[in-house]
Amino acid sequence: MSDSQTSSHPIWTNRWTYILATTGAAVGLGNIWKFPYIAGENGGGAFVLMYLLCILLLGLPILIAEVMLGRKGRANPVHAMLAQAKNAGVSKGWSFIGIMGVAAGIMILMYYSVVAGWSLEYVFQSATSNYMGKTPTDVAAGFGVFAEDTTRQLIWHSLFISVTAFIVGLGVTRGIGNAVNILMPILFLLLLMLLWYAYQNGEFMRGLTFMFSADFSKLTGQSLLTAMGHAFFTLSLGMGTIMVYGSYMPENQSIPGASVTVAFLDTLIALIAGMAIFPLVFASGLAPGSGPGLLFETLPIAFSDMWGGAFFGTGFFILVSIAALSSSISLIEPGIAWLEKLGITRIAATVGLALLCWLGGVASIFSSEVFDTLDFITANIMLPLGGLLIAIFVGWRLGYTRVRKEVTGVNNGLFNVWFVVLRFITPIGVIVVFYESIKGLFAA
Ligand code: TRP
Repeated sequence: MSDSQTSSHPIWTNRWTYILATTGAAVGLGNIWKFPYIAGENGGGAFVLMYLLCILLLGLPILIAEVMLGRKGRANPVHAMLAQAKNAGVSKGWSFIGIMGVAAGIMILMYYSVVAGWSLEYVFQSATSNYMGKTPTDVAAGFGVFAEDTTRQLIWHSLFISVTAFIVGLGVTRGIGNAVNILMPILFLLLLMLLWYAYQNGEFMRGLTFMFSADFSKLTGQSLLTAMGHAFFTLSLGMGTIMVYGSYMPENQSIPGASVTVAFLDTLIALIAGMAIFPLVFASGLAPGSGPGLLFETLPIAFSDMWGGAFFGTGFFILVSIAALSSSISLIEPGIAWLEKLGITRIAATVGLALLCWLGGVASIFSSEVFDTLDFITANIMLPLGGLLIAIFVGWRLGYTRVRKEVTGVNNGLFNVWFVVLRFITPIGVIVVFYESIKGLFAA
């Protein structure tokens, strides 16, 4: 890739690098592990519909706004926000968005890397044919045994954090860009293969019905909040990942065009993962609401009686691990870029933040309460709050002309639609969901 360094801040002059890196950040455990299990826990159809609505009305508009802030600021999230606030003549306090984002990224990685470790465990189990030929019940029970084995989880978690730190420490965003370039299409093909398998061997129609027939009586304030939080989580929004990557985006690339591409790919992959998993869940008599283990209980069942299952299983979990890696890098990069700007060396910043994440991960392994709390606070509160503030800042503080100059590649009509949605619908949407879920908490 012909990327170059212009002035002091790196720019990806090849337009595909930006798309790939951002897609790599967006597509991860959120799509393949988290989406199916939270859709399962929240009753399916109505939840999926709310999630899609949140992507369209909240996620995509904020995605465009966050990329714009990064590209205009050409710096880490904290300094990009400082520069923008100064530019628009408003309070420096807006840089809080960047600081909260750095914190959220670290907190997410504190449990994300534990789940990535589970994925590594299943690379190992697949490669050693551990679950091959066993009954579905035994395969599913295997995850329960592993979930109790803290030592094993500790080893995989440590390995995953080390690899993340190693790559980030090298400063190779391009290495990841290129890897993702080759690996994401393979992951996509393997998912399609799994979908085919689920179609042949699973209760396919039952799976589809579960995912797409909406029964709104099942929708609570809490599930609405989960749907919104996940829209932010899966698009990597509201915490600076997108801002940092946007700061490496070339000037002549269209922000709305690139954003639509990334949001579309991300959503497609989540939906395919769901359509592959639920038919298998029903066919093996598992419960869709069984929680975080869902992916690791169902996929091995599929592989266990499939021709070449050990081989495909190994390949599949390797790719899930890589998808997790390209996301974990994007979770820690905003903090590192910020510390670097404050005068700390990249190596020291990486080691320090990675150690912090490792410690948090250890806590997540030993306490599911810590795990759940980190997940809840980040996805359901910090990311939507960050997104809300971004929408308000870009919609109400920067000014039409400044924003219009940066958001190019669309005609005035489309631009205006986006801007109006960002100013009114997006903030109101986030606030309404927050309100509904708090109301629910008190009613309960
Ligand atoms: N989007 C990724 C996933 O779905 C996770 C992720 C990466 C993320 N960077 C982020 C989530 C920034 C929130 C914010 O797995």
